[in-house]
Order: sequence, then C-alpha cells, then structure tokens
Amino acid sequence: MARPLPPEVRGYELLPHLLQPLNFLLAARAKYGDVYMLRLGPKTVLVFNHPRHVHQLYYAHSQRYRKQGDLQTPLRAVLKESLVTSDDALWLTQRRQLQPSFQTQVIRELTATMVHTGQEVLATWDRQAARDNPPPFALFRALDQLALRLTARVLLGADPDEAKALSLINALAATHDYFNVGLGIALTQAPPGWPIPGRGAYQRQLRQIETLILSLLARSTRTPNLLARFAAQHPTAPALDALAVTLFISGYETTAALLKWLFYLLASHPPVLSQVQTEVAEVLGQRAPQFADLPSLPYTHQVIQETLRLYPPGWRLTRTALEEDEVDGFRVPARATTMIATYALHRHPALWPNPHRFEPHRFAPDAPRPTKFAWIPFGAGPRQCIGEDLALTEVQLLLVLFIQKYHFSSEVSRPFPRVRLATTLSPAEDLIVRLRPRPPA
Ligand code: HEM
Repeated sequence: MARPLPPEVRGYELLPHLLQPLNFLLAARAKYGDVYMLRLGPKTVLVFNHPRHVHQLYYAHSQRYRKQGDLQTPLRAVLKESLVTSDDALWLTQRRQLQPSFQTQVIRELTATMVHTGQEVLATWDRQAARDNPPPFALFRALDQLALRLTARVLLGADPDEAKALSLINALAATHDYFNVGLGIALTQAPPGWPIPGRGAYQRQLRQIETLILSLLARSTRTPNLLARFAAQHPTAPALDALAVTLFISGYETTAALLKWLFYLLASHPPVLSQVQTEVAEVLGQRAPQFADLPSLPYTHQVIQETLRLYPPGWRLTRTALEEDEVDGFRVPARATTMIATYALHRHPALWPNPHRFEPHRFAPDAPRPTKFAWIPFGAGPRQCIGEDLALTEVQLLLVLFIQKYHFSSEVSRPFPRVRLATTLSPAEDLIVRLRPRPPA
C-alpha cells in the first residue's frame, strides 16, 4: 500500500515563513511533527527534523538522493560542477583528490599562518580599544574583514587590500538579498528565460565575486597555503581557478557567520565569557596559541560547539530524491526536495534540555552525550563538510587571540537579533561593542 505524504503546511501559513523563517521552522515542527511538506513555487519540499531522518537520508538511503536540482541550484552559476555541487563519480574523484589537503597534518602546518594573520588583523583594532571611554566599535563588520583575510591567506596565500576585501564582502552579502529563503527560493527555481526581477544583478554579482577571488589567486604569495600545497601534490590537476572559488565561498561565509554568533553569544552571556577568559589565562597566559594547545582548552571548544548548535551557519541541508522513497513511514515522491531543518533539529525539545538556552557545558565530557546526529552543523554522511577541522581550528585560535588581547562589552539587543537567511544563517545587524585592552597576565 502506498505510504501517505507528510502533512502539508497550508498556503496562508507560509506567510510567516517569508517574514520569520526560523520561527516558522520551530512553529511548523511543533504543530505538524517531525516531518511535514511545503509547496514553494514549483517545488515540493519535505522537511525533516529528527536524527533518525539524518541517518536515513544521509547514510542508509543516500544513494537515492542527489544535490542536482536542490535548492542550491542558483549557486551553480558560480560553483559550477565543483565539489559542493557535483554528484556521483565526478564528486567522488574531486573529494578523494582534495581530502588529503584537509588532513590534521596540513591544518597543523597552517596554524602559524592563522595565528599570524589573526594577530595582524587584531592589531588594527587597537586604536578602538581604550581603557577609559572606548569608542563604539562595529564588531561584525570587523569580523567579516578578519574572516575574509584569514580565508584569503590560509586557502590562497593572498593578502587583499582594504578595497578589494570590502568589494568581496559586499558582493557576497548582496547576493543574499536575492537568494534568500521563501520567495527567493521559489523565484530562483524559475526557468532561465523568465524575466525574474533582480536575477540579472544577482548573476552580475556572482561574476564579480568570481573575478575578485581569481584576482586574489593571481597574486598569491609564498606563505604556506592550502591551494599551493594541493597544487604541489597534484601537478597535473586541472586549473585551480574553480577550486579556489569553491573553497573560498564555502569557507569564508560560514566562518564569518560562526565568529559573529560566537561573539554575540559571549557578549550576551558574561559568565560564559568569564569562564573562557579564565581558561585561556590559566592554560596560555599571554603566550600565542599553537595547534597542540587546543585540546587543553576544552571549554573554549564547547562554547564553539554550542554556538554551532544554536546558530548553525548551514541552517538546512537539501537534496533531491532521484526515485520514490519512504522515510519514517512517509512517501518521498521522486524529484521532491528533502530538507533537514538543522536549525530546528538543533533546538528539538525532545533532544536538548532547555533547547534555546546557551549552555556550553552540555558538550562537556561529563555531560550526557547528545543523541547521534542531533548535532550536525557540518552536515552528515559522505558529503560532510571537508573544512570542518580547518574551520574549528581557525575559530578557536582567533577566539583565544582575541580573549588574550581584549575585554569587550556591549548592550546586546534582546531578544533574538534579526537574521539574514540565505545559504548561510548570519546576523542581519551589526554588534556594537566597546573594546578594552586586557592587562598582560
Ligand atoms: C564554520 C564553518 C563551516 C560550516 C558551518 C560548514 C558547513 C558545511 C555543511 C553543513 C556542509 C554540508 C552541505 C550539504 O551536505 O549539503 C558543508 C560542505 C562543504 N564545506 Fe563546509 N562549512 C564550514 C567551513 C568550511 C571551510 C573552511 C571549507 C573549505 C575551506 C568548507 C568547504 C566545504 C566543502 C567543499 C563542502 C562540500 C563537501 C562535499 O560535498 O563533499 N567548509 N559545509
């Protein structure tokens, strides 16, 4: 007997989806349960919210799903058939070729570049830090610059000047206005010939982003970097251009988003900030962190894990069903889009006590282990993020460097800050803080 489709969210109930997509994801899960269905323009989207769905869709039945045709289709204009967007044999070849460049040994080697870049960028913030009466400082704008410079150095060995860095940040941010959730998703699925408002500008921005990244690659220096290492190991590999664009886009925006949520949560939870400060002071004092120090900073790591739970930059995962499937007793029609709502999964009340509270201790070794696949900020299965360890290392090092140098405080706007929801989940407004220099330990 044919399995039923999941309950469908009615059209009028989708309106809040356009205005408050994250609240919608929580409300729809509470009302309809762990599986429900949306119709977004021409797309049928089945939304899944439970770890057992992650297991079925991304492991047990992963062969029945593809990235082709998913909600990321518009990204193909710039990412083309890259590791992020390809499928099947092409994906496997690309993944196998790239995987060694992300091994622990390589990340360890790149740590010096990370620390050096972090120190250089933080030094430019010094004039904002005053012991008495520090001026207001737009922290998120500064974190964008920090993440961009770090990404350019670590991946490409490049040093963008201020103007180029800003152009890239702005061009990437501008694409969000078009490729956003809800209406944007419906529109971006429209056939290429259709006159969709804003599509031309969006495509021009994507081309600009590509040109800017390639101009960075062209001016790559001798600083150890990931792409140079890859090129040395694969002298016969095809041009590095596409790979540079793919890795840059995948790495920069997600890392910038994580940094912003991390500082937002620390600013709004002074006891957690103070515990991080204590750990850093006890383990390192003012000594610059090295790769080998990171395991000795477990609380700092837990704070990052908890940030990724509450605000996963990759707030949802999508795939297209190649054939009809059955998941958790529901029918998944062929060609339907499946979405794991990572944001809602990470706040599922049956999986996480006090799901909306920022409690880093839940990741401590002595706390009950989270349910398997209940925490998937880097995705799951064979296509799990290749940059996970790189990103976690970068962010932990940057946090330590910042904590060693500055105190910070802010009048954080409560409740929830406005969000910008596109391929990544990031705050839509800046965080104004006051920086104070920390006395040497
Ligand atoms: C906090 C930082 C990051 C987060 C939260 C993040 C998140 C994710 C997620 C959720 C996926 C899976 C997407 C899916 O299954 O549809 C993914 C894939 C990917 N990520 Fe990341 N990412 C981060 C940093 C990075 C960095 C630094 C790089 C590279 C330098 C990177 C490169 C990639 C690539 C190439 C893929 C595609 C892998 C494949 O399909 O085989 N990511 N990332």
